[in-house]
Amino acid sequence: MRGVYLYLAVTATVFALLSARCCLNVSSDETRTKLNGCAVDFISFREQFHRSYVANSAEFDLRHLYFQNATKRHAYLNSFSTVAQSAKYGINQFSDFSQEEFRDLYLRASADRAPLFPGLKTGKTEGLPAKFDWRDKAVVAPVQNQQACGSCWAFSVVGAVQSVHAIDGSQLVELSVQQVLDCSFQNEGCNGGSPVQALKWLKQTKMKLVPQSEYPYKAKTGICHFFSQSHGVVAVKNFTAYDFSGQEEAMMGHLVEHGPLAAIVDAVSWQDYLGGIIQHHCSSQRSNHAVLVVGYNTTGDIPYWIVQNSWGTTWGNEGYVYIKIGGNVCGIADSVAAVFL
Ligand SMILES: *[C@@H]1O[C@H](CO)[C@@H](O)[C@H](O)[C@H]1NC(C)=O
Ligand SMILES: *[C@@H]1O[C@H](CO)[C@@H](O)[C@H](O)[C@H]1NC(C)=O
Ligand SMILES: *[C@@H]1O[C@H](CO)[C@@H](O)[C@H](O)[C@H]1NC(C)=O
Ligand SMILES: *[C@@H]1O[C@H](CO)[C@@H](O)[C@H](O)[C@H]1NC(C)=O
Repeated sequence: MRGVYLYLAVTATVFALLSARCCLNVSSDETRTKLNGCAVDFISFREQFHRSYVANSAEFDLRHLYFQNATKRHAYLNSFSTVAQSAKYGINQFSDFSQEEFRDLYLRASADRAPLFPGLKTGKTEGLPAKFDWRDKAVVAPVQNQQACGSCWAFSVVGAVQSVHAIDGSQLVELSVQQVLDCSFQNEGCNGGSPVQALKWLKQTKMKLVPQSEYPYKAKTGICHFFSQSHGVVAVKNFTAYDFSGQEEAMMGHLVEHGPLAAIVDAVSWQDYLGGIIQHHCSSQRSNHAVLVVGYNTTGDIPYWIVQNSWGTTWGNEGYVYIKIGGNVCGIADSVAAVFL
């Protein structure tokens, strides 16, 4: 063990010495991402994101290595970003995590297989607006932060339910993610789950979701609390889950017709995402994360989905990620669920 730490410490020191020169005058983020995670950058990162590890500790050296690795990744990822709207990758709150740690903590959605959407490939989309955003109708709750708990699947499902409830004419009430996390027994709480399994469970049990204020989020799996039905706000009557690959225009129609959609995605490269429209570095049919699709915009050169994530507002575009429409980028169309209340 000592040997490993010693090795890490030596490597970190060498890196620090090698990279110290590049840090003399780094101003723009763009220049920053070209560098190899200099020591000065790492120290300001540690301050910005309130890391508690102290300089010269083994933890510090290890995190510094991961940080340097992240900045190398950023340079590679950004080399594909050719136009102004393209996604940008760089330093964020995940930059001192190894890719494995990030996966283990945040990418805990199990993949759902959904039947192909049976609708027509063409037509139906003609009447659709060029852009549409459920946030404009004030039916989308603020971005949440799942923290160090693999609860994305619960956030996406609860997000869809509370929005559809508001679209149906009720006041927008934030519903309890913790209730779904604790009570949806086919899923594994903070160790992961699937939106479709959670929806099946909600439909079968007819359990009414209570307000978030009555059953607050703890970022830990706990014992399921039961409430009398009169406490509950709304139950899921039914849901659909379809594979819209090759039919993303029909998916746009589905969103406009039914409300925000719970979807699963491959989010491995999202560890480094800063903003812009994702066109690369994501695969379909390798889902590991769940999100809420709330809108789209096809007015620019690159049409994109507007997707709410649950990693807080400091991530991405104030908590949102934009994904190019067409080509099933990040598997956004792999399994897309609509809820009916
Ligand atoms: C750093 O760069 C900025 C802008 O390029 C410049 O104004 C400033 O004087 C430089 N600072 C040092 C210490 O070289
Ligand atoms: C850095 O990244 C490379 C390539 O992704 C990987 O093989 C290596 O294990 C990483 N090193 C650390 C310390 O995470
Ligand atoms: C639920 O939705 C499916 C798919 O649209 C439909 O076939 C089924 O009849 C619905 N079930 C109920 C109980 O509404
Ligand atoms: C839609 O996209 C266009 C082109 O990228 C952009 O100028 C516009 O601000 C976007 N609209 C909204 C509401 O975000």
